[in-house]
Formats: sequence, structure tokens, C-alpha cells
Amino acid sequence: MKIAGSVALVTGANRGLGRAYARELVNRDAAKVFGAARDPDQVTEPGVVPIALDITDPQRVAAVAAECADASLLVNNAGVMKASTFIDAPSLAAARAEMETNYFGTLSMCRAFAPVLGANGGGAIVNMLSVSSFYTNPFTASYGASKAAAWSLTNGVRLELHHQGTLVVAVHAGFIDTDMAALVDAPKVSPEAVAKMVFDAVEAGQIEVLADERTRTVKASLSHDHELIYPPIQEFWDAAVQGSH
Ligand SMILES: NC(=O)c1ccc[n+]([C@@H]2O[C@H](COP(=O)([O-])OP(=O)(O)OC[C@H]3O[C@@H](n4cnc5c(N)ncnc54)[C@H](OP(=O)(O)O)[C@@H]3O)[C@@H](O)[C@H]2O)c1
Repeated sequence: MKIAGSVALVTGANRGLGRAYARELVNRDAAKVFGAARDPDQVTEPGVVPIALDITDPQRVAAVAAECADASLLVNNAGVMKASTFIDAPSLAAARAEMETNYFGTLSMCRAFAPVLGANGGGAIVNMLSVSSFYTNPFTASYGASKAAAWSLTNGVRLELHHQGTLVVAVHAGFIDTDMAALVDAPKVSPEAVAKMVFDAVEAGQIEVLADERTRTVKASLSHDHELIYPPIQEFWDAAVQGSH
């Protein structure tokens, strides 16, 4: 699809990657860019129309889909990362919050906007996933589970919506230079570079964006994930079994 002349909505458009997505859409001459945020007063990017939206609030999601009846491009960017483990976390609160936003919030947006996009010629959905959709980083374990679930939903929504001509783009990235990765001391891709890659993909009809070298390496390693991605857990068990004989 062409970005120029399209009507787009970006979730979490008040900061970080969402702000970069909204700015890039304006730069590419989208006819209207709705910048959705929990606090719309924080959406200050020139040319972006603020709209109040918490993606975990189903009534608000439905109302926003009705307000944006001319939308042809939905960018599901909003997400949370609680840096939580599975076993040592004090409760399920972080895991639930990540699922609620990254999986159920994204799903709820796809469901609400599917008929809107269909009515406007098909359009496109961009789902912001992660390299953590592909593997479990022990420091952000429950976040990875929520992004794996969102990857699965992205593949399913693509299957369910291709008949109406809706392109569904999965975007996976390692570290991006935003608040979410502020504490990380490792190479990061800029949000502006990710936004450019993603809208190039939308215009080219590409269903997947692997935004950096680390993400491309991890995806290419999936068929040998236990040997290549994880610490040598299998070697530990092989040695343990041998030692017990
Ligand atoms: N940064 C990275 O290294 C990285 C890597 C791969 C993927 N990602 C993904 O990229 C996306 C953008 O993240 P970012 O790096 O820009 O992080 P960020 O700076 O922490 O921004 C997150 C955005 O999501 C919004 N948000 C969170 N929960 C929401 C909800 N329930 N309803 C509506 N908006 C909500 C936040 O709004 P508030 O300001 O109200 O909190 C904020 O605008 C996320 O999906 C993230 O998982 C990030």
C-alpha cells in the first residue's frame, strides 16, 4: 500500500518508537496520522492528531475504531516490558501486565480495526514484536512469552485477513534506543531507522521486518536453537546422565 494519502493510527505514539513511527508517517505524506496514547496531551509531534487510548480498555478500543473509520493503516506499537523472570518473580503481576498489553491489547486492536481496514480497501496492520518472540532472554522472560504470543497472533491474523487484502507485517527487533532499553549497554538501532524499514516494508508488501543483525542471526538459528541460542543446557543433562551411570 502507499503511505502517501493514507490514514494511519499509531498506538503508544507519545514517546519512543511510536513517536518515530508517527513522525515518519507525516514525513511520507500520510493524509492523517492519529497518535494514540494513554495521555493524549503527551502527543506533541507536529502534524499528528492526538487520541486517548489505553489498548487494554476494550470499550475505548471500540470507540477509537469507530472514531477512525477512515483508517487504512494500524500500527500496533504500544507495549510494556517489566524485566521479570518466571520463577523468582514475586507474583504473576508482571507476566499478566505484559500479556494484557502486548498480547490481548494487540489482539483487541486487530479485531476492532479489521472491519475498518476491510471497508477501506484492505490496508495494513503493523505489529511491533521483538527478537524475544523467538527466544527466552532470562532477564525479560515473561516479556518474551508475551511477544511470542503476539508473534503467533500476527501469523494467525495475517491468515485470517488476507482475503480482504490486509497486509499484516511482523516487526522483530533487538535493542532499540528508547526508554525501554535505557538500562541496556549494548548496540541499539535507532527508532528512526526502524520506522523507515517498517514503512518501506509496508509499501513493498513485505510481511516481516528483521530490524537488526542480532535479530536476523537469532531467527536464522531457530532450527538449532538449543545448540546456538541457549546456554548448553542439553550438554549439562548429557553430562548428568553419563555421571549417573
Ligand atoms: N526498545 C526496545 O529495545 C524494543 C525492542 C524490541 C521491541 N520493542 C517494542 O517496541 C514497542 C515500542 O517500545 P519503545 O521501545 O518505544 O518503549 P517505550 O519507550 O517504553 O514506549 C512504550 C509505549 O507504549 C505505550 N503503552 C504501554 N502500555 C500501553 C497501553 N496499555 N495502552 C496504550 N499505550 C501503552 C507507552 O505509553 P505511556 O507513555 O503511557 O507509558 C509508550 O508510549 C513495544 O511494543 C516494545 O515491546 C522495543
